[in-house]
Amino acid sequence: MSRIKNHLVADAKLDSEKIIELKNRNEQFLINNGRRKTYHILTYGCQMNEHDSEKISGMLTSIGYVETDDEKNADLVIFNTCLIRENAELRVFGKLGEVKGLKKNKPDMIVAVCGCMMQKQEIRDKVLEKFSFVDIIFGTNTIHELPVLIYNVEIKKEKSVDIVDNTDLIYEDMPKLRKFKYKALVNITYGCDNFCTYCVVPYVRGREKSREPEDIIQEIKILAEDGCKEVTLLGQNVNSYGKNLNVEFTFAQLLYEINKIEGIERIRFMTSHPKDLTDDLIKAIQECDKVCKHLHLPVQSGSNDVLRRMNRKYTKEHYLTLVEKLKKAVPDIAITTDIIVGFPGETEEDFLETLDVVKKVEYDSAFTFLYSIREGTVAAKMDDQVPDEVKHDRFNRLLEVLYPIILEKNQKCIGKVFPVLVETAEGDELTGRTEHFKLVHFKGSKDLVGEIVNVKITDVKTFHMKGSIVIA
Ligand code: SAH
Ligand code: SF4
Ligand code: F3S
Repeated sequence: MSRIKNHLVADAKLDSEKIIELKNRNEQFLINNGRRKTYHILTYGCQMNEHDSEKISGMLTSIGYVETDDEKNADLVIFNTCLIRENAELRVFGKLGEVKGLKKNKPDMIVAVCGCMMQKQEIRDKVLEKFSFVDIIFGTNTIHELPVLIYNVEIKKEKSVDIVDNTDLIYEDMPKLRKFKYKALVNITYGCDNFCTYCVVPYVRGREKSREPEDIIQEIKILAEDGCKEVTLLGQNVNSYGKNLNVEFTFAQLLYEINKIEGIERIRFMTSHPKDLTDDLIKAIQECDKVCKHLHLPVQSGSNDVLRRMNRKYTKEHYLTLVEKLKKAVPDIAITTDIIVGFPGETEEDFLETLDVVKKVEYDSAFTFLYSIREGTVAAKMDDQVPDEVKHDRFNRLLEVLYPIILEKNQKCIGKVFPVLVETAEGDELTGRTEHFKLVHFKGSKDLVGEIVNVKITDVKTFHMKGSIVIA
């Protein structure tokens, strides 16, 4: 079937003359110094950024760099930044301050800053002014340009800034150095069109673009052939996948297709927006045996007034109906969420509505946030900002309600056996996750990393469980 692509897909420029020259220099560096040049990436923010860092690693590997676990030993340090909340931004600036001292002693070290913060002109200007030692600045749409930017610094001795604001061009065919062999992140959409009034993502990641289904399926088939068992499909709102494709193709359809891929045993996805959670999708979650029984469904607030001013486009009642449908379709489904407290104008009554949702849904886990003013968003201009002490008080009261619920849900797992995908090993201490996304620690051989084993739960805390392997 041939059809017009809704976006252009381009390769990273890894075979241009400049890059070949850079690769040759790096090989010469190895001969002269007995070691390869090293890089270290500091990744802030969400899985989108984590996955972008895997692409950056892939490109650097293909031009002759190796990774090092500390910026102190690195010839190239890259900050992959996030600005979702003020503290994310402050952490980056704090660390840049530390690296300034390092660069004084190692003037040849290249420092690059990329990611969501760099998509904002004011922040770029601040970095260029206050951290003038930074050699390279690039954005979320120009990751593929990194080798050329390194060339400019190393060979032409030029500081490089490369930002593209919003683009239809998607660069997909970049080499990726995946952190884990047995699990992988796969982009299905880029950007966001929802403009929740508190959020910077639509401004820094641009308009929503869906990848072609066959490109996604092909990528996952290759991953499966490479031994990958679990894929996490990434998008700011995966439920709206396909809306801007030239053919009719929904997220539910995509799940059915991925479910057929041999070798893939678990399918996860992030994030689901409640406004686009259709009955078809619930049916797909129920029918696709590889789709994990876990849904991350950010509620943000339980108050209809706050939800309206957040531009979330659903009500508390609609959200609760969705949860009911999900629990009916998949009785032991784990539901997790994101909650913001202290959105502008949030009253005590509004906050109590949020507590009510928490009690009714009985979340398995939740990310809880204090509302953070983000320059340029609609909510930043709302004049009834909630005082800090009120925000903190509500935040603490939220946790007092939430944590016992999470613990109680975990306690129900005691004595039960769950298949766990073993993710890491420290000596004989293994860590993995159940289908429900619960973290489990247990003893076993490190050879089991990447395997799915049966674990009987013996003890639980709020954020993890302990167990022991059972041999069938
Ligand atoms: N696209 C995802 C969320 C991405 S951001 C979704 O819509 O669910 C992850 C979470 O950060 C959001 O769900 C929200 O809870 C939180 N968040 C975003 N902007 C925020 C802000 N300005 N202050 C506090 N929390 C925020
Ligand atoms: Fe931000 Fe809303 Fe888009 Fe999520 S859906 S990224 S919260 S604007
Ligand atoms: Fe942060 Fe950008 Fe993700 S702002 S949360 S890294 S999309």
